[in-house]
Amino acid sequence: MCKSVCVIGGGACGLATVRAFLEEGGFEKVVGFEQRASVGGIWNYSERADQNLNIPSVDPLAVVNPIKTAQCYVWPNAVYDALETNTPYPLMEFRDHKFPETTPLFPHRSAVLDYVSRYGEDLRQHYRFNTRVVDVRRRHKWLVRSRAVCDATEGGLKESDAVPDTTEEYDAVMVATGVYDLPLIPELTGLREWHEKFPNTILHSKTFRSPRELAGIEGNILVIGNSASGIDICYQFARCTRRKIYKSARSASRVPGGTSDLVIEMPDISHLEPQTASVYFVDGRRLDNVGCIVFATGFLRSLPFFAEINTSDKPLITDGNRIHGLYRHCWSYEYPGLAFIAISRYVLPFHVAEIQGTWLAKILQKKIALPAYVEMASQERQLLSSRGSRPSFHDLLYPDDIEYMNLLMEDIRMASDGGFLPKEWTEMEIALRRNTKLLKARCLQHFERTGHHLTLRDALSMDIMETRQ
Ligand SMILES: Cc1cc2nc3c(=O)[nH]c(=O)nc-3n(C[C@H](O)[C@H](O)[C@H](O)COP(=O)(O)OP(=O)(O)OC[C@H]3O[C@@H](n4cnc5c(N)ncnc54)[C@H](O)[C@@H]3O)c2cc1C
Ligand SMILES: NC(=O)c1ccc[n+]([C@@H]2O[C@H](COP(=O)([O-])OP(=O)(O)OC[C@H]3O[C@@H](n4cnc5c(N)ncnc54)[C@H](OP(=O)(O)O)[C@@H]3O)[C@@H](O)[C@H]2O)c1
Repeated sequence: MCKSVCVIGGGACGLATVRAFLEEGGFEKVVGFEQRASVGGIWNYSERADQNLNIPSVDPLAVVNPIKTAQCYVWPNAVYDALETNTPYPLMEFRDHKFPETTPLFPHRSAVLDYVSRYGEDLRQHYRFNTRVVDVRRRHKWLVRSRAVCDATEGGLKESDAVPDTTEEYDAVMVATGVYDLPLIPELTGLREWHEKFPNTILHSKTFRSPRELAGIEGNILVIGNSASGIDICYQFARCTRRKIYKSARSASRVPGGTSDLVIEMPDISHLEPQTASVYFVDGRRLDNVGCIVFATGFLRSLPFFAEINTSDKPLITDGNRIHGLYRHCWSYEYPGLAFIAISRYVLPFHVAEIQGTWLAKILQKKIALPAYVEMASQERQLLSSRGSRPSFHDLLYPDDIEYMNLLMEDIRMASDGGFLPKEWTEMEIALRRNTKLLKARCLQHFERTGHHLTLRDALSMDIMETRQ
């Protein structure tokens, strides 16, 4: 029987996992590890952005370093100053934990951090903060090696005799370290030469903090990527500076976001020509006098603390596009007792984590039986043959995400013995989910017109929302 569980990560999804395990009961030891000083993960905004980009950045085994400030070590992340959610807040709520009623429908990042911090208040006692997991390997149990984040260890990067690492055994390891940390900057023809000739002109969305930083750039600004980051950076820049900005899209966007006539749509990139500071597109067009290129091309999946497994014949990570050997994007059928929380794009990560955490706790308590190894492996192979090993491998676009959550919920309900159940979808939430793109567009237009944010009440009175609360 599984008695001890380690949860790596104190972001929203790690917290939800710890809560699910505590609610399930039956575990003697549930310990969370968080390298930051507090909970909240990615919603901990830092003014300082990580400027140590690899260009290109295609190595999923690269390690992201913290920055040392006068007070502490900071892990800069992709959340920027003016970021507002692209998800209506009721869809980000955990069971029995509400955002304040006055919250705008798409709140500022700070409101999300407040919310997650409140949610994590009673879970803090189960966490070791300023503690970085540096190695996880499988023996008769899971061996988890962790390190204090302090000067002696250079922020958890180096082993130190003065503050030695700690190794403990666990029956299970739940990985909730997030999936938006290690930038992907694809290898484009001419990119390396460009970076050499024009240092500091290549950025990634993770290093973007505010449109004001780009306002002084001479020459054209080109953003590559047509998902949430690419769209919002262009929108913010256009609104703030009233300057033109170019956005290269190789596929249609699937996420909500603002639009502006100042954002000039371009196709996929063909190559970069540093000799003339020009960028060529696949349709033969050319953009000259390019002063800055922002890669909003997403992130690599990275699990640096699984070095031993990753160099074995059954690695979890190879090209950074996906995690290998998972059943339902979550449970490792190759390494029993190991699971990954909220790794799919386009989902509602908080809600998914609450469900996955409950599902996993019941699996480990032997209340939910898993299919045989061959069945789990076959399901993964089928997915691979239909999707290929691409960043989209784990994607669960609406309504796939709802179907996915219902699938886990079915198992949970069948195994339920009156204990904790994750939040169920309400009609209102389904309507919010279905209309998120339109609602976000209307909210942005409303703000542009009036300077005020739309509320949930405003949204519920809209024609597009068939369901009233
Ligand atoms: C720019 C941006 C905007 C977003 N906007 C939205 C939105 O509007 N709505 C929405 O629902 N989602 C949004 N998301 C998705 C967001 O990732 C999720 O909302 C969610 O916060 C993810 O939580 P997490 O716990 O999985 O990961 P994270 O928040 O990334 O937390 C992971 C934690 O693990 C810790 N950690 C990592 N490695 C180690 C280690 N080795 N040892 C110890 N600790 C470690 C990290 O320090 C971090 O605190 C956005 C993401 C980005 C990048
Ligand atoms: N709250 C907000 O407003 C907000 C703002 C920013 C980000 N976010 C969140 O942050 C997370 C990450 O979003 P993201 O936009 O940074 O990453 P993402 O969703 O992974 O999107 C990456 C984008 O880059 C493109 N791309 C990848 N490789 C490319 C290549 N080699 N050449 C050209 N284009 C390439 C992708 O195109 P393909 O689709 O064709 O692969 C896609 O458009 C998401 O959860 C998102 O919701 C939210």
